[in-house]
Amino acid sequence: MSAQSIQETHHKRFGTQGIAYQAPGRVNLIGEHTDTSEGFVMPAALDLRTISVLSPRSDTTANIYSVNFDEQISLDLQHLPSRRRGHWSDYPTSVLWTLEQRGIRPAGFDLTLSGNVPLGSGLSSSASVEVAVAVAVLAHAGTTLTKPEIAKICQFSENNFVGAQSGIMDPFTSCCGVENHALLIDCRSLEYEALPLPSEVLLVICNSMVKHSLAGGGEYNQRRAEVQAGVKILQQHYPDVHTLRDVTEEQLRRCESDMAEDIFRRSLHVVTEDERVLAAAAALRRGDFEKFGLIMHDAHISMRDNYAASCLETDLLVELAVRQPGCFGARITGGGFGGCTINLVAAEHADGFVRNVRAGYEEATAIQAEIYRSCASDGAGPVA
Ligand code: GLA
Repeated sequence: MSAQSIQETHHKRFGTQGIAYQAPGRVNLIGEHTDTSEGFVMPAALDLRTISVLSPRSDTTANIYSVNFDEQISLDLQHLPSRRRGHWSDYPTSVLWTLEQRGIRPAGFDLTLSGNVPLGSGLSSSASVEVAVAVAVLAHAGTTLTKPEIAKICQFSENNFVGAQSGIMDPFTSCCGVENHALLIDCRSLEYEALPLPSEVLLVICNSMVKHSLAGGGEYNQRRAEVQAGVKILQQHYPDVHTLRDVTEEQLRRCESDMAEDIFRRSLHVVTEDERVLAAAAALRRGDFEKFGLIMHDAHISMRDNYAASCLETDLLVELAVRQPGCFGARITGGGFGGCTINLVAAEHADGFVRNVRAGYEEATAIQAEIYRSCASDGAGPVA
């Protein structure tokens, strides 16, 4: 999927030369469901991405063509829809809708979108589409915003138009990714540190092929509501608590008897996950991958048992992975309820790892997992 071939597709369809932009998907190494509690996360931007190609029009129409769906929609920029349709076009439309609310009203344009981030797999295909649209349209409108501001626009779009109460991690990583680095992000201050990922250790992503979708909310929003209920109870004891970021495990345990078991467990996941992210960052700085891997495994168990956001297939992928030589750690990545696992694998063992996990998974489930060896990439921008 080269930017040049998508520019050619754009030219054939719209008869004009467009400028190409790209925005990556992301994989989260650790720190799941903590961004929405203003906690810590450690994702990396992927070399899987969405490419957007834009050329201006002289009217107020936005034509948006999706190569993946081989479908085109037309919007009147003066009368944008204000509700999701449950259609791929919700993602680009949501960004235009948010920009309009911020007073950014671009002139008409033709836009072609093409992506290779697998949909509904926990690798942030939606943020990658939103960011790819945002950077193209902002450049077309002649508006310069910082990367965190672009990320916030995309989060707002997802929350208020698409209907998923998702956090800042995905669009932020798509905007701010750094080649060969993971980002340790403080989702309260939005300060971040790029932590080098050495080339001897590969990020291997195993796709269970079980799809999930955050659009419209579903279980993702339900978990958020459970966490919110936990915060309310904690606030009765600790009035200064704003989110679970402000709570220690000890404080949470003191309130356990006031909480329904599910609420306690969801909260326990978030509070302990924040600690795991910081411990994993310390291990990464020391180059201690054994330790990093053990923390990943604890994080997986907590996603499975406390946050209840794993599924049998991703559990199986993790079990198969941790048995393989050279695998430091494995866990489910992203929103959960299906999707992918992230595995840290010593480069010299990667071939055997891929072969064995694929075979073991197919034998047990009759599903052929897709497995990607990915490297951490730079965030969104024009294609050079
Ligand atoms: C989805 C959301 C993110 C984050 C993860 C879970 O990817 O979009 O904001 O909450 O789930 O860590």
